[in-house]
Amino acid sequence: MSNKIVVNADVGQGTINKNIYGHFAEHLGRCIYEGFWVGEDSSIPNTNGIRNDVVDALKKLNIPVLRWPGGCFADEYHWKDGIGPKENRKRMVNTHWGGVIENNHFGTHEFLMLCDMLDTEPYINGNVGSGTVQEMSEWVEYMTFNGESPMANLRKENGQEEPWAVKYFGVGNENWGCGGNMRPQYYADLYRRFQTYVRNYGDNKIYRIAGGPNVDDYNWTEVLMREAAEYMDGLSVHYYVHAGPNGGGFWDKGSALDFSENEWDMAMQKTYHTEELIEKHSTIMDKYDPEKRIGMIFDEWGAWHDVEPGTNPGFLYQQNSVRDALIAGVSLNIFNNHNDRVQMANIAQTINVIQSMILTDKEKMILTPTYHVFEMYKVHQDAERIHLDIQSETLKFDGKEFPQVSGSASKANDGTVNISLCNVDKDNSAKFTMDLRGMDVSDISGRILTDSKMNAHNTFEQPDNVAPTNFTGFTVKENELELELPAKSVVVLAVK
Ligand code: AHR
Repeated sequence: MSNKIVVNADVGQGTINKNIYGHFAEHLGRCIYEGFWVGEDSSIPNTNGIRNDVVDALKKLNIPVLRWPGGCFADEYHWKDGIGPKENRKRMVNTHWGGVIENNHFGTHEFLMLCDMLDTEPYINGNVGSGTVQEMSEWVEYMTFNGESPMANLRKENGQEEPWAVKYFGVGNENWGCGGNMRPQYYADLYRRFQTYVRNYGDNKIYRIAGGPNVDDYNWTEVLMREAAEYMDGLSVHYYVHAGPNGGGFWDKGSALDFSENEWDMAMQKTYHTEELIEKHSTIMDKYDPEKRIGMIFDEWGAWHDVEPGTNPGFLYQQNSVRDALIAGVSLNIFNNHNDRVQMANIAQTINVIQSMILTDKEKMILTPTYHVFEMYKVHQDAERIHLDIQSETLKFDGKEFPQVSGSASKANDGTVNISLCNVDKDNSAKFTMDLRGMDVSDISGRILTDSKMNAHNTFEQPDNVAPTNFTGFTVKENELELELPAKSVVVLAVK
């Protein structure tokens, strides 16, 4: 088969919601504490307790939305413990994640200050599992009510006169598991009840997100959509890639760096499985919401490996390699290509936890290959998706076929066409002829992230081992490109 890519720059397919490039920060391991928050008295340069280096690095990603405080932590978080003078804040045990003391120094005010620094929309996840309707309702009142009320007054006493704008609110997390081990019918009823008291105050219109299925639990989606669609704006879906030596899965995650060729292929095949999940969940959502009003919110996704040897097993600290970069690139292409239903996605998690953007060691900080993919792909945020057809070789793992090359394309406001391509083949490059239709081509440039080693990664000693460089593997003849994507590469082309 001849490998061919066709781009139709004049065939628009709707906006790629910038929130697909969202992030997630939980009170887990060293994500919040040490990652974002070091406290005002730290010797690490900070602004009101938040690390300057981290904020500077993350600003370059244009993070559109940040989910907090969990995850599983959300369903045991009591927000009132995290407001007021820090010395009076309750200390609690973080039972899910390492059994460590949570001193509540990073609470609502600190999170919303962080969002302000990053210029990102907050997405707050409320507590259904161990919380009350009153507690959730009062949190929304505390943050968003502009007037005289017990919670608005309390907020003012704590130094915040004006309400914040909080658009995205999750009503529980993984309520089929750590969020209460519920059955879908029961959660659907609780969802209906809790969300009733998540009020819109003034102009603050809340986008309510219901706790959705685990991976391929289609029955959960069916029940939630059937019973509660009219009360939700979004339905969350969680899916992690686990590729271990014994077939992979939650109990066989495999090492982040010390993995086999087999585990590389398994990881790619499992990443492509995201497409099937979206399509099958979408079919159910379409039945109850044919207008596609309700967003599929992929608010936890990523490659979840074993923790690094010698680190706290409850902290989920893992390294991040070129393999993770490919997983990110393919996943983002899939989300882009399902922009009719996927309105948000939040990779887990921003710093030091699972598939991070950033790793820290005291005052040191490094950017991961996944960070670089987010930086390269940010051109797709809120851009018009355009038609892209890729005819590539197929690869096979465990009897399941998947394309050697994944891609997505969009047109920015200034007319630039951005095409992101991932060659997931660990051994072979991919040669293509690319037809650029529906545009006059005057200039093409490209960036590439790749390495000859499957587990190439950045360390505190070699922070720039894996970083994007200019891509020159193409020749242009009018509107036709001859292109060679190296093995294990993520490429973004900008065509003007
Ligand atoms: O991201 C880590 C955990 O994975 C989250 O807390 C939970 O929601 C999921 O199971």
